[in-house]
Amino acid sequence: MDDFVSIWEIYGLKTDPFCTSPILVKGGLISPKSFMGREEEMKRLEKIFRSSGGSRAIVCGGQGVGKTTLVNVARLRALEKRFFTPYQEVKADADWGINDFIINTISAVYSSLISIKEPSKEIVDTINKIKPVFDLYESEDKSYSLSTPILGGGYGKTRTVNKPEINTNFLTNLFQEIVTSLTKAGFREVIIHYNNLDNFDEEEKKLKGLFNRIRDFIQTPYVHFVFVGSTTTSSIITSVARVSNIINDTPIKLEPLSLAEIKKIIHTRVELSAIEDMNYYDPVADKAIETLYGLHNGNIRAVLNSLSTAVREVTEEKPVLLTDKLLKSVLYEIAKKRFADKITKTMQEVLMEMLRQKESTNKTLAEKLGKRTQNISKYFGIMKENQCIYLLRSDGREKHYSVAEWIKWLLLNPEEE
Ligand SMILES: Nc1ncnc2c1ncn2[C@@H]1O[C@H](COP(=O)(O)OP(=O)(O)OP(=O)(O)O)[C@@H](O)[C@H]1O
Ligand SMILES: [Mg+2]
Repeated sequence: MDDFVSIWEIYGLKTDPFCTSPILVKGGLISPKSFMGREEEMKRLEKIFRSSGGSRAIVCGGQGVGKTTLVNVARLRALEKRFFTPYQEVKADADWGINDFIINTISAVYSSLISIKEPSKEIVDTINKIKPVFDLYESEDKSYSLSTPILGGGYGKTRTVNKPEINTNFLTNLFQEIVTSLTKAGFREVIIHYNNLDNFDEEEKKLKGLFNRIRDFIQTPYVHFVFVGSTTTSSIITSVARVSNIINDTPIKLEPLSLAEIKKIIHTRVELSAIEDMNYYDPVADKAIETLYGLHNGNIRAVLNSLSTAVREVTEEKPVLLTDKLLKSVLYEIAKKRFADKITKTMQEVLMEMLRQKESTNKTLAEKLGKRTQNISKYFGIMKENQCIYLLRSDGREKHYSVAEWIKWLLLNPEEE
C-alpha cells in the first residue's frame, strides 16, 4: 500500500481547500466560484471601470483580508465584458524609474497577448510592435535601471545595432499605441492591476517619488490603473497632492469578511476541491471556524492557514472532524512547540503581553512590564528572528510591533478556558 498518500486524498479532496493563495484571473489553485461577499466594493470597482476613458483607483486594507482576490475577480468579470487586462498583476517596485514602470506594464500586457490561442490580426500586429523592445529589455539584466533617457552604451558592440531608442517618450507612445490597437482588436478598455505596494510602506519617500514620476503616465486614456496596498500605502499615495487629485473616488477600503461569509467560503472551498465522483468528507466544524474567526479578528488568510495546519496535524490515516475542542488543543500545542519553547521565559512573558496589547512599542512594553527599553529591543530582535512578531508600522522613530497570527494559538490553551 502507498503509505505516502496525500493528506487531502484521505478526505476525498484533490488539493488543500484552505490554501491561502489569492484567486487569480487565469489558472491558480482557488476557483473563482468560491468568491463571496464584497458586493459593495465590487460595485464601486465596476462603476469605476464603466466610467469610460480611464481611471485611477486605490484598493487598501489589512494583510490577507482579500485585496488581491477582489481586484482579480473584478478583472475576471471585466474580461467577460470585453475589457483587456493582463492575467498577472504587476508587482510594482518603489525603486522603479518611470521607464521601468512603463516597461513592466507593457511586459504584463505582452505576456497575456502571447498566450492568446488564436490571436486576431490586430493582436498579432500589437505583439509584433512590442516584441523588439521587450526582447531587448528581457535580454538585459533586469536590475539595470532604464532611467537613462536613451539606452545607449554599456552593452557589447553587437547589441547596439538596430536598437530602438528607448526613452520615456518612446515608451509612453508605445503604450498608447498598444492601447489603441487593443481597442481596434475589439476590447473596450484596459485594466492594469499593481499589487502589493505595501511592500514600500517603510519607504514613504520612495513611494511618493514613484507616484510623482508616474503621474502623467497613469493618465493614459482608456486605461484603468488599480493600485493595491495597505491603508498606510493609501495614505502615502493620497498625500501627494498632485496625485491625489487624479485618483477617482475615495480609496476602496476592505474590512474583514463576515463570519457567515467565511464559513460559506470554507465549506464551498471543500466542496469545490472534491475529487470527481467520490464522496468527500468536510473536515471542519462550524464551531472551530467561529473560534478562529474571533482569534484572528476576521482575517480570512489567518483562518485558512490555521485550518490547514490543524487538519494536517491531526490527520494520519482516516478523516478527522476538526471540532472546536480538537482545534484548540492541536494549535496550542503547535504554537508551544514551534515558537514559545524556543524563547526564554522572560520573552514568553513579553510575548503574552504583546498578545494583550495587540500593538506594542518598546515604550508600551517597558512601562507595563517594568523592564528596560534596551532589553525589550533585544527581545524584539530575537522574537522577530523566530517569526513570533512582525513590524506593523512605524510612525517617525517609533516602531509598532504585532504578534504573528500563529502566536495567537497560544491563547487557545485548553487548560485556561
Ligand atoms: N471575497 C472572498 N471570497 C472568497 N475567498 C476570498 C475572498 N477574499 C479573500 N479570499 C481568500 O482569502 C485569502 C487571502 O486573500 P488575498 O490573498 O486576496 O488577500 P490580500 O489582502 O491580497 O493579502 P496580502 O495582504 O497578503 O496581499 C485567499 O486565499 C483568497 O482566496
Ligand atoms: Mg495580496
